[in-house]
Amino acid sequence: MNVITVASRKGGAGKTTLCAHLAALARSQGHKCQIIDGDPQGSLTLCNRLRAGAALPLATAERGIDRALALAQVAGAEWVFVDTSPTMWVVVQEAIRAATLVLIPARPGFLDLDAVRETVKTARERNKPYAVVLNACPVKRDEREAPAVAQSRAYLDREGVPVFAGQISHRAAFNFTLAAGASAGEAEPNSLAAAEITKLWSAVEKSIAAINAAYADAAATAGLTQGRAA
Ligand SMILES: Nc1ncnc2c1ncn2[C@@H]1O[C@H](COP(=O)(O)OP(=O)(O)OP(=O)(O)O)[C@@H](O)[C@H]1O
Ligand SMILES: [Mg+2]
Repeated sequence: MNVITVASRKGGAGKTTLCAHLAALARSQGHKCQIIDGDPQGSLTLCNRLRAGAALPLATAERGIDRALALAQVAGAEWVFVDTSPTMWVVVQEAIRAATLVLIPARPGFLDLDAVRETVKTARERNKPYAVVLNACPVKRDEREAPAVAQSRAYLDREGVPVFAGQISHRAAFNFTLAAGASAGEAEPNSLAAAEITKLWSAVEKSIAAINAAYADAAATAGLTQGRAA
């Protein structure tokens, strides 16, 4: 079971938006998905309620992340997407500890990038793979990133923080599709918004494959998988 925790100390960075779009996209590709709303604000719960008949299995973290994840495991979820609150409360810490990969949305700009530090520190302390996703970026012109995006990427590179190679632009579709009970990929599959979220999802899938392969190698090196191999 792969756990994608979307976390950032900064309010309004795009945690719920990315979580909702990624989970819906993964599900539309046939993956068995579970979403966990770890934020008492309940924004992901609201997005899911608006999906009516197409709602994803949802749990809250009211009784802890571990319990919600255990239930997801029993239900046979392949992918779990955890939305978190803009805090470093214990539920967020637990969600990061339980993650296979931590996605950290950040809008371009120094205030938002500075706020990334705390989440990065927590992921590093827990030895968790993580990557920043530059979100709500000015759209590219002639395939070129806006200066604010390029500068933000350069800053994160200097700080040794992994960043998703693409960008999620500021597009109304990321908002109104969720309000209408769908994701960009479902409502407007040929849109630029759908293309961006699909690219992010592909990067997530590749990262997870690499992370799981590295764990398998490490386990084999330690002799942990000998019994299974034999
Ligand atoms: N790429 C985007 N394009 C357009 N609007 C966006 C984008 N990302 C987020 N938004 C909008 O910005 C606002 C904040 O986004 P969202 O609620 O996803 O952030 P959040 O990090 O979950 O916030 P919180 O910290 O309060 O939980 C919402 O109104 C959302 O629709
Ligand atoms: Mg949110």
